[in-house]
Amino acid sequence: MDAPSKYPAVALNHGQIMAVYVLSRVKVSGTNSRRSNAASRPFSPVTVACLVLVMALLSIPCGSFATPGSVENGAALYMVHCVQCHGPGGKGDGTAAQYLPRRPRDFTEGLYKIKTSPPTTMLSRDEDIYYSITKGMSIAGMPPWEKVLTDKQRWDLVAYLKSLSDLYDDEPNPEPLDLGGRIPPSPDSVKRGNRAYFKLLCHECHGETGQGPSIKKLRDDYGDRIWPRDLTRTDTFIGPATPDAIYTRITNGIPLTPMPAHVKNPNNDQLEDLRWDIANYIVWRAAEAQKLRRERMLKIVGASLVILGAGMIFFRRRNARA
Ligand code: HEC
Ligand code: HEC
Repeated sequence: MDAPSKYPAVALNHGQIMAVYVLSRVKVSGTNSRRSNAASRPFSPVTVACLVLVMALLSIPCGSFATPGSVENGAALYMVHCVQCHGPGGKGDGTAAQYLPRRPRDFTEGLYKIKTSPPTTMLSRDEDIYYSITKGMSIAGMPPWEKVLTDKQRWDLVAYLKSLSDLYDDEPNPEPLDLGGRIPPSPDSVKRGNRAYFKLLCHECHGETGQGPSIKKLRDDYGDRIWPRDLTRTDTFIGPATPDAIYTRITNGIPLTPMPAHVKNPNNDQLEDLRWDIANYIVWRAAEAQKLRRERMLKIVGASLVILGAGMIFFRRRNARA
């Protein structure tokens, strides 16, 4: 995710470094010339030429100065593309909302399911909001906007959505969750993850094999019925299905749903290793299930071809006899 940060990074290209250097020289020579002949020549032709050069160099566009999204542009785009579902005030009450499998997000609350910030804050990161606009949440009826809106337009929408909630007022974009304790995937980690899956009670909602069924009747924060995800169908996930992303979801839980955060005390986090092992386990488990599904499909296709072939031979022979 190539995110423009809210505050431009102070990184200068070679031209700008040169310009700053020249500027510093100009100041010194200006002081000198004032001392010697201040009244008659406030700026020597060389100084003016240098200043012009500096201005020109500073105006060269520089990639490191990214612009944050525009709330105004975002509002206009929202009224064209989002209002039907999310409603004119962003409260999730658009005219199409009643026909969707899930209630569209109420942006005035400021809570998002995709959240890669640490569990110590309620805020999602700008990059998270950008991600869900880009990729959508197909299982829930939220379309992906990657091919419809430009990068810039999606960032403008991020700025607009944030402006709808008090939660983001004057708050800097939170830092991402620290992933420094990462445990690389390995057969041992997967084995430990399988045990930890039961220890942290994931099976109570996701079932013993990760495919459900849930033993609980769950409701989301809007009061609507919600089903735990089939963890072997990563194509239905609303977030990425990498170990890092799954670790982050287990850590934060999924805001607005009954899926809990798995950190008891953020200052004394004793479950970190378990969460990494579970993330590795889920990625492995999903790949295995996918392999099984593919094999089963191949068997069905193979058997169908055999039956079709046998049928064709049978009818050909019968027709030849007749
Ligand atoms: C066809 C209906 C529909 C349209 C159009 C639509 N959305 Fe959504 N959107 C949804 C639904 C439904 C959800 C809730 C998904 C869920 O809770 O799993 C959602 C959720 C979201 C979320 C929440 C993501 C999160 O992490 O919780 C964002 C952000 C969002 N939409 C932005 C937009 C933007 C921006 C537009 C316009 C460019 C838009 N949506 C257009 C239906 C829609
Ligand atoms: C109280 C019930 C509950 C428990 C306990 C629970 N989950 Fe969930 N989980 C859910 C629900 C509900 C969803 C679906 C949320 C949605 O659709 O927005 C979900 C979704 C998920 C997803 C899908 C994320 C995505 O991107 O779509 C993953 C992965 C996941 N859970 C892993 C786990 C793991 C691992 C554990 C144990 C550490 C766990 N869950 C414990 C209820 C639960």
